[in-house]
Amino acid sequence: MKNILVTGGAGFIGANFVHFLLQAEPQAKIVNLDLLTYAGSLENLKDLPDPTRHTFVQGDICDAELVNRLLREHQIDTVIHFAAESHVDRSILGPAPFVQTNVMGTFTLLEAAKTFWAGSGGMAGRRFHHVSTDEVFGSLSPKDPAFSEATPYDPRSPYSASKAASDHLVRAYFHTYGLPVTITNCSNNYGPYQFPEKLIPLMVLNALRGKSLPIYGDGKQIRDWLYVEDHCEAIYRVAKDGQSGETYNVGGGNQPYNIDLVTEICSILDELLPKPAPYAALMTHVTDRPGHDRRYAMDITKIRRELGWTPRHDIESGLRATVKWYLENTDWVQAMLEQDGYGDWLDKNYKNRS
Ligand code: NAD
Ligand code: DAU
Repeated sequence: MKNILVTGGAGFIGANFVHFLLQAEPQAKIVNLDLLTYAGSLENLKDLPDPTRHTFVQGDICDAELVNRLLREHQIDTVIHFAAESHVDRSILGPAPFVQTNVMGTFTLLEAAKTFWAGSGGMAGRRFHHVSTDEVFGSLSPKDPAFSEATPYDPRSPYSASKAASDHLVRAYFHTYGLPVTITNCSNNYGPYQFPEKLIPLMVLNALRGKSLPIYGDGKQIRDWLYVEDHCEAIYRVAKDGQSGETYNVGGGNQPYNIDLVTEICSILDELLPKPAPYAALMTHVTDRPGHDRRYAMDITKIRRELGWTPRHDIESGLRATVKWYLENTDWVQAMLEQDGYGDWLDKNYKNRS
């Protein structure tokens, strides 16, 4: 890893990864290609540990000319691909950008990497790492075993279908063209810089403003929560030492019901910033997400056995650190909440839920 193209590095996980990588690889240079959609922000890249080794480029991963030029000009040997449309609710109300960015964008990057590396010394020492999700595997019932790397794909939302399609393309480029690829399929992340549309920041910020806390359906859905820094470490380990052509499942082993997670957030807030009424009084059941996956759980045996990775954070300490981060970073929070179009999104997604 010398010259690394990170895509989507102004988003939640991508920005955390850029911070992580600048520390983990003291010689590496990073080119960060991000379109700065509503989900990406330069606010996430302030205070980088060594900014001279980071070049930000605002642009679209679907722009083949731009991607080809960046690979050539910066002699890229490693691609870490985060850029995506990532919010399931948005994919339900407007799937087109998901197909465009997640499928066509991934295709554009694969094609560019294949062409550049084939024409400049071959595939040795190169790596294309694709960041994917547990949602490609579908939904588990309460007694099903956790998803393993061998679980058949069964995506059920436009988001997860577009991510599944991109995973298939990445594998096809390994088998057909010998592109040195790895994939991580990870569970729900939480931590600093997560855009407030996602469950944990939404609940923290709504609670602080005395707004209702919308629980979809009965709130008995289960996600497998992982602190974002642990995900960054897993990606780094797989991209560096994972076997080319292989997929690695990544998860946190923390699987509360949504409703219990939100209750826990409320009790942390009760402790850190007490108000006359407990925050949990704001919890409100609303119309469920269509096609809502009931349960995810990840079997992480393979990454543990082959690469020695396990999560460092438990949900109690990770959640507390996250709530504190949102309480302390008021400028960042304000910038996100005031962003053009975010209010419209909240109306679109929540107004018609009874
Ligand atoms: P995010 O929505 O916070 O950030 C996505 C970033 O991609 C943004 O900075 C955005 O500007 C950029 N982007 C979007 N379209 C682009 C385009 N066409 N060209 C260039 N940049 C573009 O997403 P996230 O939560 O950080 O997720 C990052 C990746 O990790 C995604 O691929 C997602 O599928 C995957 N993932 C996320 C989670 C999670 O819990 N958030 C879990 C597993 C996997
Ligand atoms: O599992 C990995 C996936 O996790 C990633 O691939 C996605 O990019 C990421 O967005 C996330 O998807 P989810 O749909 O699980 O995350 P979200 O935060 O939107 O929702 C988490 C759970 O909380 C889910 O069961 C839906 C529920 N929920 C969500 C919101 C926004 C609510 O009950 N109310 C809400 O208002």
